[in-house]
Amino acid sequence: MRRAPSNATLRALKVMVFAAALLPAVFLVLATFEIGGQSLGANPIEELLHEAGEWGLRFLLITLAVTPLRRISGLNWLVRFRRMLGLFAFFYISVHFLVYALLDQRLALGPIFEDIVERPYITLGIVALLMLIPLALTSTKGMMRRLGRRWQALHRLVYPAAILGVWHFWWQVKEDIREPVIYAVILAVLLGIRLFYRLRSPAR
Ligand code: HEM
Repeated sequence: MRRAPSNATLRALKVMVFAAALLPAVFLVLATFEIGGQSLGANPIEELLHEAGEWGLRFLLITLAVTPLRRISGLNWLVRFRRMLGLFAFFYISVHFLVYALLDQRLALGPIFEDIVERPYITLGIVALLMLIPLALTSTKGMMRRLGRRWQALHRLVYPAAILGVWHFWWQVKEDIREPVIYAVILAVLLGIRLFYRLRSPAR
């Protein structure tokens, strides 16, 4: 068993990971207000929507990578970063949804409802978001303790949410599917590694 870093080192690492995870949001704010030569281009709302969606998906996959990485490397302390990364995924996906609802649709509830019902990729997105909400709400240590075994069962919702997130991306792409394919392959590898460990020691 490898020695874990000291609490002080872990705290410093956490601050660095937090700052790095916040960077895309900082760049988006700078670009929105055209500060420091940053700009969102000709279609600012579309650009915001796309960037927030992609970062949400990236953080979802990074969060799902923590356990496989921990298992393969033996670095058990990596788990201490999982909650923060998961909350960043939820943050970017919430921004993505808010850009859609507030800026793109101007909170027109009728058209939003129509989109959810009639455009299957939006249906997938909203179902994925609804799955992530209870995970974010129960991410505190207190809720973890209170829910016990049920916490783990509940947090397995992250797998279908990630699958729906990638599917949502794939479905709305018009021609070039290379990017969603890359996300799908990464997700398949991450879920495959988990399945491998589960089949190897089913008692866990
Ligand atoms: C887990 C939840 C979600 C994830 C991971 C996600 C991720 C993504 C990604 C990666 C894109 C493509 C960005 C690009 O082209 O670069 C996208 C596009 C989009 N998403 Fe989501 N999304 C989620 C939920 C939602 C929800 C709840 C809504 C609205 C109700 C939504 C509405 C849209 C729209 C309108 C687009 C742009 C489609 C277009 O350009 O034609 N998404 N999303």
